[in-house]
Amino acid sequence: MGDVKVGVIGCGSIAEIAHFPSISRRQDAKLVAVCDVEARVAQAAASKWGAERWFTDYRKMFNESRLNAVVIATPNNFHRNQAVAAARAGVHVVVEKPLAVTNGEAWDIVKACRKAGVKLMVGCDRRFWIHNQWAKQLIEEGVIGKVLMSRAALHEHWHNYQNHVARTKFRLDCKVAGGAAINDTGAHAIDLLTWLNGSKVKRAVGVAKRLAMPETYTLCDDTALAMVEFENGAFGTISCNRFSHAVTQMTEICGTEGTIFTASDATNPFQSWPMAVYTNKQYTVDTLPKILKDYRWPELFWVEDIVNKTVRNRWIPICPPRYPSNYDRMTEHYLDCIINDKEPMVSGEDGARAVEVMCAAIKSMQTGGWVDLPLKEEVIPLHYERLPDEDRV
Ligand SMILES: NC(=O)c1ccc[n+]([C@@H]2O[C@H](COP(=O)([O-])OP(=O)(O)OC[C@H]3O[C@@H](n4cnc5c(N)ncnc54)[C@H](O)[C@@H]3O)[C@@H](O)[C@H]2O)c1
Repeated sequence: MGDVKVGVIGCGSIAEIAHFPSISRRQDAKLVAVCDVEARVAQAAASKWGAERWFTDYRKMFNESRLNAVVIATPNNFHRNQAVAAARAGVHVVVEKPLAVTNGEAWDIVKACRKAGVKLMVGCDRRFWIHNQWAKQLIEEGVIGKVLMSRAALHEHWHNYQNHVARTKFRLDCKVAGGAAINDTGAHAIDLLTWLNGSKVKRAVGVAKRLAMPETYTLCDDTALAMVEFENGAFGTISCNRFSHAVTQMTEICGTEGTIFTASDATNPFQSWPMAVYTNKQYTVDTLPKILKDYRWPELFWVEDIVNKTVRNRWIPICPPRYPSNYDRMTEHYLDCIINDKEPMVSGEDGARAVEVMCAAIKSMQTGGWVDLPLKEEVIPLHYERLPDEDRV
């Protein structure tokens, strides 16, 4: 395959700050068409990023542009219909997180892509931060032993993104967004926690409520907590909010022989490194995993590793390179999957299972207890107005 011909639906904030720049830096891809319901936004994006065509109707874009792949970066309630239409048009699909609002919508997307034989990837960019990828590698190498409990947090005030970056106010409109802490920030936390654990969620319990913001601002939840049990017997917690002015995006993975912290955004003043590893394993300088060997500085002076081959157990702070950025790495990855027929790292199934966890937490508020996955019925969050299905799956 030559250049992958890419289209983008939704020319708002995430397309502008992440997808368009990352696509434009690739030699193996070409942005050929863009679509936005607002004509002037679509036209401006096409002109700025060099797309041949712009559209206000995504079906017209699929009919008239010979796309290989499409990035769906529209408000959450449109993901289902747009992704299903893309699959029916034979186009590979990248959907921004959350894959969908309801479990019914999410599995429709997965089924439509499977049926059409197109690739489906969810835009969980946090997996493409280098420190999270290194954490995954070290966990798989057994550096912290068996993972038994873990937590993932994303605490970030509405204002951070909404007031400075977002183009529209869809996040505040629960009819469109379907939620906030539970599925906007929650989508990242749930995905990271599940991926780092390497096991599927078996059941979940949680809350998603609006505690901080007045209903004149939004009807969406701003506080979400969930506890999950994984199929392998480990437990994890997810905590997300939309009122903390100090941003916390962190994961802590506790194993029987060590702990790994990672943090992508601002952390607390006591943890100024994006990653820290503590392992109780008795490594020598020669048997240390490469990531730890390369990033571990001697405590006293530079010859200590030569005179003393044993490694003292201590926290190892790690500051990986920031570039290529998470979105550059994600774009490179999905293009590689399309060109070389590989399975995307954040599969549609992963995205749908994350939506199931969000829906299970919401459902558990009604049932008052644990909710088993997979869900047996569709869970429609309070205030969400699910759009009619345009294409049946
Ligand atoms: N991975 C991340 O960290 C991350 C960050 C931001 C946004 N997102 C996700 O990306 C999606 C978009 O968020 P955003 O911040 O870019 O929103 P935004 O409000 O900045 O932009 C949305 C754009 O979509 C357009 N649009 C609305 N309905 C449309 C339709 N039916 N067809 C075509 N265009 C339509 C709007 O006119 C607007 O230009 C959301 O699902 C969000 O959760 C992910």
